[in-house]
Amino acid sequence: MTRPRITRSIEEVTAALRGGQVVAIPTETVYGLAADATNECALELIYEVKGRPKRNPLIVHFASKELAWEAGSEIPDTARRLANRFWPGPLTLIIRKQAAVSPIITAGQETVAVRVPSHPVALELLKFFPRGLAAPSANRYTKVSPTTAEHVVKDLEGRLNLVLDGGACAIGIESTIVDCTQAQPVLLRPGYVTVEELEQTLGIPVMFRNVGGTLSPGQHAVHYAPDAKVHLSEPDKIDHLIAGLRDRGEAPLVISAQTPHLGTSVTWWQIPDDPAEFARRIYGYLREADAVGFKTVVIATPNQDGIGRAILDRLEKAAQSPGTT
Ligand code: TXA
Ligand code: MG
Repeated sequence: MTRPRITRSIEEVTAALRGGQVVAIPTETVYGLAADATNECALELIYEVKGRPKRNPLIVHFASKELAWEAGSEIPDTARRLANRFWPGPLTLIIRKQAAVSPIITAGQETVAVRVPSHPVALELLKFFPRGLAAPSANRYTKVSPTTAEHVVKDLEGRLNLVLDGGACAIGIESTIVDCTQAQPVLLRPGYVTVEELEQTLGIPVMFRNVGGTLSPGQHAVHYAPDAKVHLSEPDKIDHLIAGLRDRGEAPLVISAQTPHLGTSVTWWQIPDDPAEFARRIYGYLREADAVGFKTVVIATPNQDGIGRAILDRLEKAAQSPGTT
């Protein structure tokens, strides 16, 4: 196994998945590392390729909500309403699992994460897998999620044979995750579908479970982390932070909407005004910063409403990185 090959052939990928391989596939959020949800050897392989601890469960992707519901033992009304409104799309729902769902998918839990993605290539492929494709994001554990086929090739060289190319991901950050197993729905990971939209659809408040729950490794401290050390700053305090870093002899990359006022030795990349565009590009910026060799990156925090909350969530996790790996 050397460099993963990029293909556009659904037929080839279907055959590989049926043969028990793991294959990276596109979704509208990020690329996923997929295996046939009914093949336990292939499911084990996902954890191995990703370097992910077995205690972290996988999302199962389906072609339709009817098929997704077959993985559940009971489908709460909240899950139905959210699925009706947001599927196919960037939303993952946690429901109680049906007995046939493999414990390798659920990390031994009684619940399962299900999602119907909207990417046309993913949907076409999923038609061949009525029991679903299990897939975490196709990055090495704790690293930045891939949003192009080329990112996957770079991350998983020597560990994977095949990547199904579906172009650059339209959304660029992972799905919103909502636990629907209790009367009160709980947001486990903010994403493109916002809390405001969830609450509007359900007509009840949605709680947010922070670190300390056993459930979402997306909530672990180091995640989505580039090699560079990331510092976050409110936009109006950024010049002060940069000055401090420069005094320590650092030459940071600054990613912000406004031009920093500090002239030379600071490289500036401009954040697009549209928050959705920022979300689409954020992982690309972090990868590019590493590729160019920046050791220090300063990023202006976005507004917290709408998708800004999900962007900030990912940036905070990137900033907790020790910056040494
Ligand atoms: O957008 C996405 O969600 C992408 C694409 C490929 O679909 N997938 C993704 O998967 O981000 P992953 O594995 O990187 O993140 C899924 C998160 C993990 O934090 C996992 O712990 C959580 O979902 N999860 C999976 N099953 C769960 C369950 N039964 N209960 C609670 N959390 C669960
Ligand atoms: Mg992930």
